[in-house]
Amino acid sequence: MKTILTGIRPTGNLHLGHLFGAGQNWVKLQDDYDFYLEIADVQALTDNFNDPQKVRDNVDNIVKDLLSVGIDPKKVHIFIQSRIPEIAELTVFYSNLVTVARLQRNPTVKTEISQKKELFGNEGESITYGFLGYPVSQAADITCFNGELVPVGEDQEPLLEQCREIVRKFNNIYGDTLKEPEGMFTETKRVKGLDGNEKMGKSLGNAIFLVDNEETISKKIMNAVTDSNKIRKDDPADPDKCMVYYYHRLVNSDDNLKTICSECKKGARGCVQCKKELIAKMNEFLDPIREKRKYYDEHPDEVKKILDEGTEAAREVAKEQMKKIKKAMMIDY
Ligand code: TRP
Repeated sequence: MKTILTGIRPTGNLHLGHLFGAGQNWVKLQDDYDFYLEIADVQALTDNFNDPQKVRDNVDNIVKDLLSVGIDPKKVHIFIQSRIPEIAELTVFYSNLVTVARLQRNPTVKTEISQKKELFGNEGESITYGFLGYPVSQAADITCFNGELVPVGEDQEPLLEQCREIVRKFNNIYGDTLKEPEGMFTETKRVKGLDGNEKMGKSLGNAIFLVDNEETISKKIMNAVTDSNKIRKDDPADPDKCMVYYYHRLVNSDDNLKTICSECKKGARGCVQCKKELIAKMNEFLDPIREKRKYYDEHPDEVKKILDEGTEAAREVAKEQMKKIKKAMMIDY
């Protein structure tokens, strides 16, 4: 059985973008692989070192969300990054194998730095050593467990390439020890935001979260962007310009979709009615997730046990791997 490893930063609750993207993909993969799923709290701190409470709270939030959407802890080792000291150790060893210039050229890091500059002004000085180095730490995340396949979004490819470079350099200098990981870019849906933005995101303020209650869902959908040419209830409109129709497509049946589409085009469907139907369908869709989530909210000991066991299993693998690595580096005293 091949090993797959992936990670997620605990910085917020999961939303529909996560669910239809990574989430459903991971649930499918869990049957066929030896699956390690890292809650990347140390990586989250590179960005959020001044807000430890946020990271701490979201470790629990993310884990409960993941369990609620069907990640099965009997199949997946869910573990917490900071509880595997070997990852931190390995990050230090790898830091010699990568130049500062190479990190600055990493396209993902570059994009993130320019986004930060947009948000906080031209404060290049505020980029920390830890943030610039997070790809090195991510290479440690993967290779600590001999991760062969890494199911991630396309935006993570530069981080995998950086990891492979580190692995090659390591193997060249210290002898063949590590595996080069491959990305697993299975087709995943990208979910647009309520405002029609290509991406749904917490920071974009356009997300539907799995933990949103009925009232919040109702407010959000009532404010979703519709075809701006439709002014009166019986104006015909283009469903492809409407976020309400877009979300109907995620949670409604094919038969209903056909009806909605043709009524909308004919001007035989008002937006308010259409939104109300979507609210009902969205709640129906979220109900089983909410139910599971409620169970885990009421059983924190069970969540703790899942994390303890997942982390313990991961730690065993990391310890073995570290023995090999230290031997190769001649620091196995
Ligand atoms: N950087 C990833 C993200 O932001 C999360 C992550 C942390 C990860 N460690 C990883 C992904 C290891 C794959 C492998 O989505």
